[in-house]
Amino acid sequence: MKAVEVLQRNSRGAFTVPAHGLYPYQWLWDSAFIALGWTQVDWERAWQELLCLFDYGQGPDGMLPHIVFHEQSRDYFPGPDVWGREARAQPATSGITQPPVVATVVRYLYEKDPDRARARERARYLFPKLLAFHRWLYHARDPYRTGLVVIVHPWESGMDNSPAWDKPLSRVPVENLPPYERRDVKHVNPEERPRKEDYDRYLSLLYLFRRLEYDPREIYRQSPFKVVDVGFNAILQRANRDLYALAVLLQEDPYEIEEWIVRGEVGLEALWDREAGFYFSWDLVAGEPIAVKTSAGFLPLFAGTPHQGRASLLAQEAERWGEKARYLLPSVDPTSPFFEPRRYWRGPVWINVNWMVAEGFRDYGFAALAERLKADALALMEREGFREYYDPLTGQGRGGEGFSWSAALALFWTR
Ligand code: SER
Repeated sequence: MKAVEVLQRNSRGAFTVPAHGLYPYQWLWDSAFIALGWTQVDWERAWQELLCLFDYGQGPDGMLPHIVFHEQSRDYFPGPDVWGREARAQPATSGITQPPVVATVVRYLYEKDPDRARARERARYLFPKLLAFHRWLYHARDPYRTGLVVIVHPWESGMDNSPAWDKPLSRVPVENLPPYERRDVKHVNPEERPRKEDYDRYLSLLYLFRRLEYDPREIYRQSPFKVVDVGFNAILQRANRDLYALAVLLQEDPYEIEEWIVRGEVGLEALWDREAGFYFSWDLVAGEPIAVKTSAGFLPLFAGTPHQGRASLLAQEAERWGEKARYLLPSVDPTSPFFEPRRYWRGPVWINVNWMVAEGFRDYGFAALAERLKADALALMEREGFREYYDPLTGQGRGGEGFSWSAALALFWTR
């Protein structure tokens, strides 16, 4: 199937499902990457993807949920009944968020849409909503104003079963969980998905947040999982820079955003581990760095915060990973004991990460490495079709088929 056909097949009017069957709703960061793909097909449709996300998903407090449950589906678990937020708004949504790449995408749409009147109108409409989302992130997730926000659930990282979360997640108590049946393993080989131990804890956190009635203050206080995710924060930092640029272009006051950027840069660079020569997430509950090398550690390049020396060390690190793995960029250091080449975020290559990290390396002048990330991503999609992720050793496609953001980024990257 061609990339455009994947998007058309997964389109449900004004939003796009990440994969037919496996993910039957609208996901936050998926929709952002998907909108980039739609720009290569239909600019109006690209804007609709984002309007739909904000109009139906955003809460009155600015929170943007990681799933908007537009339609009923028995294909996915946990659905809206488990989240228990139907009474708040229709359509129902999940009660946690996801990496905030959307401001970066809105800036791109604004700058490149050939219909300038539409671009201005849509950007003016979306700007206050983006600002409200970022404000919510700082309010709810950085109450002590450290400059970095925490995630309270592995799903918020978008990299659910990253080995970086193993230790912090192991502290989440699993008690009295109502019996449940996973649907993901009906669509995808269980060897390629998170384990049951992980799901038990994902759900334990969900039920805790539900008992706390999704009160952000209480969630921050009581969540046993609280992590400063380097990937989430790097994406937020980049999004803040793009939001700042939008504010200036739209003649809005950028002062508040500037403060986020200044503090975020200091915060992100403090996640650099001198000994390892790499960026690590921080476990806020244990008060210690999470010394596991994952692809999220390259994302500060996308944020533009490292100085050239650190960028060079990251380039050398990527080269080392590339000696072990045929395809860049594995989601986990392929020389580490955690590396599992076919299991979701514990080893496989993901197209969106390749794109963000390649953008970063390119901006820092590592053109050959950026090209390799792109060439590898395109070769994998050419070979195996638009899969959710790929084995970095063999190139075999894994997870969902006809995966929207892979197709979208293939279109966008070869524009
Ligand atoms: N990625 C999660 C899943 O696999 C949800 O965000 O269901």
